[in-house]
Amino acid sequence: MSEVAQPLVRARALARHFPGQGGKRVTAVDGVSFDIARGETLALVGESGCGKTTTGRMLVRLVEPDAGTMAFDGMDMATLTAGELRGLRQRMQLIFQDPGSAFNPRMNVATLIAEPMRLAGYPPAEQRARVAELLPLVGLAPEYAERFPHEFSGGQRQRIGIARALALRPDFIVCDEPVSALDVSVQAQVINLLTELQRQFGLTYLFISHDLRVVRHVATRIAVMYLGRIVETAPKAALYATPRHPYTRALLSAVPSHRPGVARTRLADIGEIASADAIPSGCRFHTRCPHAIALCREKDPELTTIGDGHEAACHRLDDLAA
Ligand SMILES: Nc1ncnc2c1ncn2[C@@H]1O[C@H](COP(=O)(O)OP(=O)(O)OP(=O)(O)O)[C@@H](O)[C@H]1O
Ligand code: SF4
Ligand SMILES: [Mg+2]
Repeated sequence: MSEVAQPLVRARALARHFPGQGGKRVTAVDGVSFDIARGETLALVGESGCGKTTTGRMLVRLVEPDAGTMAFDGMDMATLTAGELRGLRQRMQLIFQDPGSAFNPRMNVATLIAEPMRLAGYPPAEQRARVAELLPLVGLAPEYAERFPHEFSGGQRQRIGIARALALRPDFIVCDEPVSALDVSVQAQVINLLTELQRQFGLTYLFISHDLRVVRHVATRIAVMYLGRIVETAPKAALYATPRHPYTRALLSAVPSHRPGVARTRLADIGEIASADAIPSGCRFHTRCPHAIALCREKDPELTTIGDGHEAACHRLDDLAA
């Protein structure tokens, strides 16, 4: 896998399973590795159930991995004491798809935004000062501090969620489908806000989305996930211009192309994603891939470097290049 000189976040061979229905074992994440450099946005993209949220939650230690290692700012997270981990957790925050459902409806905006500070033991005066600083930063009027979450639109609630995530001045934020529940017109505003905050504070993002259109403007690099694995990763421009994995091409079928020559497989035409409790043998995409050959059912393809920071896992990369 491609390495970054001094990544803020380093994940190696992360894996996580869950108990599923009927005693089956659900493979949520099956060995993913990546680096995220300070100040960049790695977009993690794939269909529902492919393991994006589980990956993001492992990074911020809300879900314990079954296997693999993680380092944050050069510190191996497995070796930290509980106190050190608590300190580190403040430097990593999460933004959710629907912040409204995570908010306590009886807390006003000021209390909601200050809650991470209160839990971390900051004095009330410092909490109030930080809230006053944060509201304009996320584009909310000062008088909103006393109002309650149900009085706001989805876009405004996401601004409250962003302010709350920023309260403890984190370095790293996992943005888990932060605009998927919003109207298209509002999506762009929230994405612009996240981009502006990143520039201003040097933030590093893992930006999770099922939609390659959404990440086009925010991503520095993109990792495409399928059934618990990364199947292709590339700098943004290379991923959109020369997608190499058949699954990436299928995902891109919904995105207007600048390169009509690239062979596309429409996602709508290739059937449903396999179940995470019955991962197909060999290449896990073979049950849907129009290019599958006998080898694909037997041998699991490894990520192979095909360009600067561009890797894909497919046996037929050379034949399908055009
Ligand atoms: N706590 C859990 N218990 C059991 N199974 C789980 C749990 N969390 C996730 N899973 C399963 O793990 C797989 C990956 O889930 P995950 O939520 O990480 O996917 P996702 O890519 O974020 O999907 P979505 O786009 O729908 O949010 C799914 O099959 C899911 O049902
Ligand atoms: S390895 Fe085979 S099945 Fe998998 S994506 Fe490549 S061609 Fe398709
Ligand atoms: Mg998810």
